[in-house]
Amino acid sequence: MAAILSSLLAGSALLGAVRAQDPFSAVRSEDAFQYVQPLNTTILTEYGSSPAFYPSPNITGVGGWEAALVKARAWVAQLTIEEKADMATGTAGPCVGNIVAIPRLGFSGLCLHDGPLAIRVADYASVFSAGISIGATWDKAIMYERGLAMGREFKAKGAHVALGPVSGPLGRSAYAGRNWEGFSSDPYLSGVAMEKTITGHQDAGVQACAKHWVANEQEIQRNPIYDRNVTTVKTSNAVSSNLDDRTMHELYMWPFANAIKAKAASVMCSYQRINGSYGCQNSATQNGLLKTELGFQGYIMSDWGATHTGVAAIEAGLDMNMPGTLGPYGLNFGVPSFFGGNITIAVNNGSLSVSRVDDMIVRIMTPYFWLNQDQNYPSVDPSSADLNTFSPRATWVRNFTLTGERSRDVRGNHGELIRKHGAASGVLLKNRNGTLPLKAPKNIAVFGNDAGDPTESSVLNQQDYEFGTLTAGGGSGTGQFTYLVTPLQALQARAKKDGGIVQYWLNNTLIAASNISTLLIPRGQPDVCIVMLKTWAAEGGDRPSLSLDWDGDEVVRSVASFCQNTVVVTHSSGINTLPWSDHPNVTAILAAHFPGQESGNSLTDLLYGDVNPSGHLPYTIAMNGTDYNAPPTTAINTTGFDDWQSWFDEKLEIDYRYFDAKNISVRYEFGFGLSYTTFNMSNLRLSPHDSNIASEPEDLPIQPGGNPALWTHLYNATVSVTNSGPVAGAAVPQLYVGLPSSAPAGTPPRQLRGFEKVHLKPGETQTVNFELMRRDLSYWDIISQQWLIPEGAFTIYVGWSSRNLVVQQSVTVVG
Ligand SMILES: *[C@@H]1O[C@H](CO)[C@@H](O)[C@H](O)[C@H]1NC(C)=O
Ligand SMILES: *[C@@H]1O[C@H](CO)[C@@H](O)[C@H](O)[C@H]1NC(C)=O
Ligand SMILES: *[C@@H]1O[C@H](CO)[C@@H](O)[C@H](O)[C@H]1NC(C)=O
Ligand SMILES: *[C@@H]1O[C@H](CO)[C@@H](O)[C@H](O)[C@H]1NC(C)=O
Ligand SMILES: *[C@@H]1O[C@H](CO)[C@@H](O)[C@H](O)[C@H]1NC(C)=O
Ligand SMILES: *[C@@H]1O[C@H](CO)[C@@H](O)[C@H](O)[C@H]1NC(C)=O
Ligand SMILES: *[C@@H]1O[C@H](CO)[C@@H](O)[C@H](O)[C@H]1NC(C)=O
Ligand SMILES: *[C@@H]1O[C@H](CO)[C@@H](O)[C@H](O)[C@H]1NC(C)=O
Ligand SMILES: *[C@@H]1O[C@H](CO)[C@@H](O)[C@H](O)[C@H]1NC(C)=O
Ligand SMILES: *[C@@H]1O[C@H](CO)[C@@H](O)[C@H](O)[C@H]1NC(C)=O
Ligand SMILES: *[C@@H]1O[C@H](CO)[C@@H](O)[C@H](O)[C@H]1NC(C)=O
Ligand SMILES: *[C@@H]1O[C@H](CO)[C@@H](O)[C@H](O)[C@H]1NC(C)=O
Repeated sequence: MAAILSSLLAGSALLGAVRAQDPFSAVRSEDAFQYVQPLNTTILTEYGSSPAFYPSPNITGVGGWEAALVKARAWVAQLTIEEKADMATGTAGPCVGNIVAIPRLGFSGLCLHDGPLAIRVADYASVFSAGISIGATWDKAIMYERGLAMGREFKAKGAHVALGPVSGPLGRSAYAGRNWEGFSSDPYLSGVAMEKTITGHQDAGVQACAKHWVANEQEIQRNPIYDRNVTTVKTSNAVSSNLDDRTMHELYMWPFANAIKAKAASVMCSYQRINGSYGCQNSATQNGLLKTELGFQGYIMSDWGATHTGVAAIEAGLDMNMPGTLGPYGLNFGVPSFFGGNITIAVNNGSLSVSRVDDMIVRIMTPYFWLNQDQNYPSVDPSSADLNTFSPRATWVRNFTLTGERSRDVRGNHGELIRKHGAASGVLLKNRNGTLPLKAPKNIAVFGNDAGDPTESSVLNQQDYEFGTLTAGGGSGTGQFTYLVTPLQALQARAKKDGGIVQYWLNNTLIAASNISTLLIPRGQPDVCIVMLKTWAAEGGDRPSLSLDWDGDEVVRSVASFCQNTVVVTHSSGINTLPWSDHPNVTAILAAHFPGQESGNSLTDLLYGDVNPSGHLPYTIAMNGTDYNAPPTTAINTTGFDDWQSWFDEKLEIDYRYFDAKNISVRYEFGFGLSYTTFNMSNLRLSPHDSNIASEPEDLPIQPGGNPALWTHLYNATVSVTNSGPVAGAAVPQLYVGLPSSAPAGTPPRQLRGFEKVHLKPGETQTVNFELMRRDLSYWDIISQQWLIPEGAFTIYVGWSSRNLVVQQSVTVVG
């Protein structure tokens, strides 16, 4: 969502330059990167509109919600039209999103809270590893375990809906500011993570919200620009993501299909336009793709302030308007809504059918009954009302009665889990001559402003402060830390046990400019120099460059020019280009992303070998930032109202799909990651479930997730994986599919279609099974509007990364 909160924190809302009207936008001085999108009227005409898809389909309850639907219908039948309007419209209150109570029916309302890695508006709650870290674990069990633990915290705080997980942005652009909230730029990996997270959240009794639907791939101009004086008047529309139907299905819709298959209760529509039509009033994406093709049975809520119309949005499929007010960034609570009273007026004057309104509320209440949220659900923790800068009490216009224990501690043993998840997510990129694990070094030198305590505040990161370790990004997807274990704390505690010393320098400017040899005591080589660097990203802005922040590259060069054993650790929102990776004195590199509150402990577990690294890159690290295609549109050359356009003309070629198609060398490829042990792989075997497989799927009645035939298993692939090294570790065999040449032009050479995390003792061998579904072997055919399996020879590859493919086999699937 739009966490308007930072406008209050940072005081930047609606002031200054046009872009600064977006409260999360950050203008950075080192703006190295500009992509001016030329206005091409030929393409604009082609993508100028989204096809109409009406009417909005009714919920049927198919797929397991039938009994809950009966309850929801009976409940909704008791409502007045005013109560129905309330149910579809947020209002200022103790949570980030609030639906008011209906006391006469014993309904206590709905509380919606951010976000994808923590309850943002909470005390005594945990800050988990960010999505990008969880993607880097490639561990389905951890994806679920984290989702469940998070869900339990949301529930215990009285939140009915957790506003996550994220698969939009997917990561079309390396530079996009919110990629870290999601899991991976690969739709398959992201889809599995969505499914596991949602199942975890909902097993805990909390409704998940898959967001942001769809093609929400940049932050710049994600919202329209409003007149500075008359904030309801737009002066230019938001950027439009213009993409073709095949790309929509095979990349951007793909992980959402997994989310719907996992019965996500809700989906959040996105800020930007799609083919010229706003995400929350686009009938093709909402009524068509989501509610019809994917069989989505829950409700669509708007991103915060993403609703730009009333009846038109409702008829295009939007079911709930959040936060429910008209103001562009929700700041004007109390200002009338496009929904609310307007729904009542529209129904009463016949311009909106009451059956559509009934469907909106039934969609909202069916998952509520399905998850038994009507039975003994915890009250909203009164403390959230005090912490909610987004809608402070002074803005409330409705009655909220807050009951129950204040400041409940909901953290349980989650600190242990977060430590484990953080360690499982570290990606070891380089480890020369077994530099790591550390062997009780006596003399440790630590460098970099990511090592120590944040000096401004440990609590809520909404700015790229110079000093302090970074373990989450900013915006609505961040969390409030109740404690934070820094790398420096954890390293000192560990060194103390070994009777060692830790000396440290935290000022990057000073380190970059210094002769390191003169700083050290005793003089001479330390056993190891650990360089801790960071890269910020936050909602509201895209990254201007892929370099490490705060002159990180110069810090590495300075340390490595003296220290022969330089270990570099990055806490980063995603891709960094690491130009010094081949430096002979840089002996190890660990990409640690955003591990959450136990950051330092997760790190020392890896550095000292208590945990064997098993993370793998969920994206590609190119040789140079300019090697990436598909940049965000950062400026336009014209002044027309509708001129912000982003053409997804790279189609399916994002990240490794692009580098592989164009045969471009990269620094570290998608799927790469080292271990302290070695693994062997052999014996690829493929076995079909059926002897006679047709190109077209059987036309079965739609279930959540779409045609169930797409999810049926067609093939098993097995490989043998052996730990051939000296210590226990976890391998991540990855299966990639190369479609036959009969597949349409533009098909990427190889696409991830299976992965497992396999824990092996030294010498142990396991057989790993991948189940290939029909969707995994198909492409989206734009003519027949079907997933088709192409004729001819497929190549199935299994390996350790997208470019380290160990075994392969050809197979003809159809016939
Ligand atoms: C933008 O406009 C300037 C001046 O008309 C022109 O020189 C430049 O090529 C344009 N750039 C793009 C990307 O269209
Ligand atoms: C506009 O797009 C069309 C279709 O992709 C292309 O053929 C044409 O060259 C483009 N024109 C300009 C001025 O870039
Ligand atoms: C967007 O426009 C393209 C080009 O006309 C079309 O292939 C695609 O289906 C459209 N998608 C939506 C959601 O409007
Ligand atoms: C939804 O259900 C109502 C009530 O049964 C019916 O009147 C309406 O036509 C249905 N709408 C659609 C799109 O099927
Ligand atoms: C907005 O208000 C400011 C201050 O009152 C005024 O100087 C400015 O001209 C106004 N701008 C517009 C576009 O009306
Ligand atoms: C209906 O929406 C309009 C904005 O289009 C707003 O100005 C008006 O106050 C709303 N009316 C009610 C009753 O909420
Ligand atoms: C608010 O709700 C409580 C509990 O239902 C009720 O006692 C109180 O009178 C209400 N206050 C207002 C201002 O409606
Ligand atoms: C480390 O590896 C390099 C290159 O493989 C080799 O030349 C060197 O001797 C090794 N050093 C040690 C201490 O093993
Ligand atoms: C960091 O070091 C630089 C260079 O020595 C110095 O100018 C700067 O004031 C230092 N920053 C702080 C916060 O001490
Ligand atoms: C590596 O460290 C040694 C020892 O301090 C130094 O002599 C050498 O110049 C360094 N190598 C590079 C490439 O900076
Ligand atoms: C990256 O590419 C740009 C443009 O080709 C070039 O100017 C720059 O030096 C390159 N950077 C590195 C680290 O190679
Ligand atoms: C495929 O693997 C599953 C276990 O994951 C097994 O139950 C099934 O029998 C296997 N099918 C074939 C055809 O090997």
